[in-house]
Amino acid sequence: MKSLTEYSLKGLNLKNRIVMPPMCMYSADEEGKANDFHEVHYASRAAGGVGLIIVEATGVTPNGRISSNDLGIWSDEHIEGLKRIVEKVHAYDGKIGIQISHAGRKCQSNDEYIVGPSAISYSDKYRVPRELSKDHIRKTVLQFKDAAKRANDAGFDMIEIHGAHGYLINEFLSPLSNRRNDQYGGSCENRVRFLKEILSEVKEVWPDDKPISLRVSADDYTEGGIDKAEMIKIVNLVKEDIDIVHVSSGGVVSAKIDTFPGYQVTHAETIKKMCNVPTIAVGLIKDYDHIEEIVANGRADLVALGRALLREPYLVLNMAYEKGVDISFPRQYERGFL
Ligand SMILES: Cc1cc2nc3c(=O)[nH]c(=O)nc-3n(C[C@H](O)[C@H](O)[C@H](O)COP(=O)(O)O)c2cc1C
Repeated sequence: MKSLTEYSLKGLNLKNRIVMPPMCMYSADEEGKANDFHEVHYASRAAGGVGLIIVEATGVTPNGRISSNDLGIWSDEHIEGLKRIVEKVHAYDGKIGIQISHAGRKCQSNDEYIVGPSAISYSDKYRVPRELSKDHIRKTVLQFKDAAKRANDAGFDMIEIHGAHGYLINEFLSPLSNRRNDQYGGSCENRVRFLKEILSEVKEVWPDDKPISLRVSADDYTEGGIDKAEMIKIVNLVKEDIDIVHVSSGGVVSAKIDTFPGYQVTHAETIKKMCNVPTIAVGLIKDYDHIEEIVANGRADLVALGRALLREPYLVLNMAYEKGVDISFPRQYERGFL
């Protein structure tokens, strides 16, 4: 039963291979501060046996939020609330990372203007972003760096850079949203430059023994966009600066996606094999046998369960109980699992 065995990545030692992926809860105040809900929400998944919890997309700047109720990490004032989440999760024997994010042209907060690599809106329901100048690109790179420093100050065990789902970094990566003519647009190397600069600055402040995860969308499912082959190239260009790739897909443009249980696993498997990096698989996975198949066949190192964990915080404990796998249950709950 490999999925419930330990896994180590640098100094991060996980008790099992199950991950709670980042999921926006739209529950912060307008200042982006964490509150009781976030503490209970994340701590209960830790008590429920999840090996690694990744806190939802957290904005590196106000107009980098997806909504006005996202968590923020653009100010030192955010550290205290985030630290409380970390301490609660640690108290219940869990490990916790945070996804730092900039929504780019998909920002729907109340901020005055939004930004993107090019002045092209996501759809006619979204605002047209201002094309980032080189100075503003530099400023944004440093916002990721400052966010990483604060994440470490708050005590997070891992950091995840949000490079997926059509948000700012993904917008630079994809030719569908990046039409720049300077060194940040055009060739694959140029489109990766913004991400590379972020990773290089993050590494300046993020401790060597804590892993860096990169979330990617491995397929735009649209002609002229990123496909698996291009994503392999992208990951190869940054793999010296990251420790694990969290493989999702879609979101740069609205596209028809054929979804089914595990529909993104082959993407995680290909990146793991072709780029020789650990991966997290995600996407409509909820059954123990399915998780076991992915991990035991070496298709991905970790498996994330999103909506399944929203429905059932104690999913991991229940899976272990039903399958007769010997794991440690919280002392208070032991009698429920005799
Ligand atoms: C309510 C909700 C919020 C989400 N927010 C984020 C997010 O903040 N960052 C992110 O990278 N993905 C986000 N996602 C995507 C999930 O991390 C995950 O990839 C997706 O739900 C597919 O996994 P599942 O089928 O196990 O739910 C969100 C998904 C849901 C359902």
